[in-house]
Amino acid sequence: MAKINENFTKLPGSYLFSTVARKISEYGAAHSDADIIKMSIGDVTLPLVPSVVDALHKAADEMGVQETFRGYGPEQGYDFLRDAIVKNDYKVRGINITADEIFVSDGAKSDCGNIVDIFAKDNKVAVCDPVYPVYVDTNAMSGRAGDFVGGKWSNLYYMVCNEENGFLPDLPTEKVDMIYLCFPNNPTGMAAPKDYLEKWVGYAKENGSVILFDSAYEAFITDENVPHSIYEIEGAEEVAIEFRSFSKTAGFTGTRCAYTVVPKALTVDGVSLNALWNRRQCTKFNGVSYVIQRAAEAVYSPEGRAQTQANIKYYLENAKIIREALQDIGLTVFGGVNAPYIWAKTPNGMGSWEFFDYILDKTRVATTPGEGFGPSGEGYIRLTAFSSREKTEEAMDRIRKTLK
Ligand code: MLT
Repeated sequence: MAKINENFTKLPGSYLFSTVARKISEYGAAHSDADIIKMSIGDVTLPLVPSVVDALHKAADEMGVQETFRGYGPEQGYDFLRDAIVKNDYKVRGINITADEIFVSDGAKSDCGNIVDIFAKDNKVAVCDPVYPVYVDTNAMSGRAGDFVGGKWSNLYYMVCNEENGFLPDLPTEKVDMIYLCFPNNPTGMAAPKDYLEKWVGYAKENGSVILFDSAYEAFITDENVPHSIYEIEGAEEVAIEFRSFSKTAGFTGTRCAYTVVPKALTVDGVSLNALWNRRQCTKFNGVSYVIQRAAEAVYSPEGRAQTQANIKYYLENAKIIREALQDIGLTVFGGVNAPYIWAKTPNGMGSWEFFDYILDKTRVATTPGEGFGPSGEGYIRLTAFSSREKTEEAMDRIRKTLK
């Protein structure tokens, strides 16, 4: 008789954003007049920029012509995109990453989840608390998290991020092997300065740990002291894997393109993780389509760059509008300066699901309850800056009028 992967049965409820979506749609169904503004899941709303759309059209035309038609592409990504990434995301910052260390994929979510394939089950995994749930759930699915007891996984090491530590977790007090860091952070929207990341690289070197660095939101960094890549830290290429995405940078949430950097200098017990990841990708993945990779390449053209940067500026302006409105009604607010997420403390010690329900009911604005990101997210809600300007302003007007 076939047996299932028992680890899946240990997962609590559904994936956070599915639960939130269900709650919003149930509320909408029960209040048919409700004009709900969604500031919950971090999904972009501005359309793809003109240079990306031009590249999509051009590449689609090439696929319809015998001479330029392409079948299977390289599993790791086409050279034209890998070279553009190296040149524009790394060389310009003085980072010596080479094209064969870049693996193009359909999303940072997939890569952050799939990377666990190349690590042993008995690694001790450290996650921030609160945390992007993909890191936790995928380790649970692969049997590395233990059992879910009292809101926590028994084998995970939770690194509390709170007001006291400025949402920058302390180094672990016990030895951990795999460390997930996400900066600028989802969900708190807080960014990490260089000297802080240096401590982590030092820790990883001393303990033989691997840092899994999610920098999906690096394009939103406005502060000059904040590194865009973990490889801006000396020696990080020996201890860190980096995940990047075109989703939030260039509005590719529906188009799907991202990449992961696995440096050749990164080895565990003398084994190259670049070689392992390459082996995994070649077996389980057939690459991102040619058309989409040409679209991603266009993000790096001078026009593409200017157009996507204008969109990021637009979202950051939304973030400012949200921050100011929440501060006006007396909430303590974090993030939203180097990131598209705003992390707000609930008033009067209200629970985060309670405050989520309260705001939804009183203002028809949907947020994400902090507790969904982990126990230390209790007492907070997250809002995203990815709505249109009009909806952001409307939502904040409602919040000001109703909750002041
Ligand atoms: C979020 O809302 O946290 C993001 O949309 C998640 C993601 O990028 O998968």
